Amino acid sequence: MSRNYYMAGNWKMHMTRSEAALLAQELVNKLKDGKHKYLVAPSFTLLETVSAIVEGTNIRLGAQNCACEEQGAHTGEVSVLQLKDLGVQTIILGHSERRHLYKEDDALINKKVKLALKHGFEVILCIGELLEEREAGKVEEVCERQTVKGLEGVSAGDLANIVIAYEPVWAIGTGKTATPDDAEAVHAFVRKVIKRLYGEEAAAKIIIQYGGSVKPDNAAQLMAKENIDGALVGGASLKTDTFVPIAKFS
Ligand code: 13P
Repeated sequence: MSRNYYMAGNWKMHMTRSEAALLAQELVNKLKDGKHKYLVAPSFTLLETVSAIVEGTNIRLGAQNCACEEQGAHTGEVSVLQLKDLGVQTIILGHSERRHLYKEDDALINKKVKLALKHGFEVILCIGELLEEREAGKVEEVCERQTVKGLEGVSAGDLANIVIAYEPVWAIGTGKTATPDDAEAVHAFVRKVIKRLYGEEAAAKIIIQYGGSVKPDNAAQLMAKENIDGALVGGASLKTDTFVPIAKFS
């Protein structure tokens, strides 16, 4: 089963509209002949600007989060309806910064996953262990729990709109990348969990991205691994000089 690579940039809480417009336009120009699937996920305030630039190109528009309710009295939250209105196609959910800095738990993330799927979005569900969990030998336990609970109630049909991003928390923004072998071991394990939940075909199809200090000089080695199907890139996605070589790794 061949899976297409999916290279995504999570811009996190960076950039103003003019900076975002510049970066998005450069990416459109430089990735138009790219062979993989691409996505950029800017902050909410940048979505309208970036949407106008990537619309109709081979770069998808992603949001970094959404509210767990459709609409209503939820001060400070952003709804799936508002994201759809801006042309957002994909929502990143369960990012480690949401889990650990903003205390989002598996149940809340699962509620958001189901709401986003109901509204036709693709979801990138992020999972990954903390350093102390790795040191305590709990990598599989944590990744299995986050996968199983994140996908609770998600039908086999809806799984086609799920991408999983394995992002070991200790590798995010630290410059410490998981070795390709360590990452591959977790990806293979997560695929086994999907097989148990949804069967062999679904497991063979699902895209599992790696995230955590992906850089131009380590992308190709990571992508060479059988179960690594793409990257979710933070810091290196903020500049074309670093994101384009990752996105076009060979
Ligand atoms: P870095 O690439 O900056 O380590 O961030 C990874 C990440 O969190 C992407 O979602």
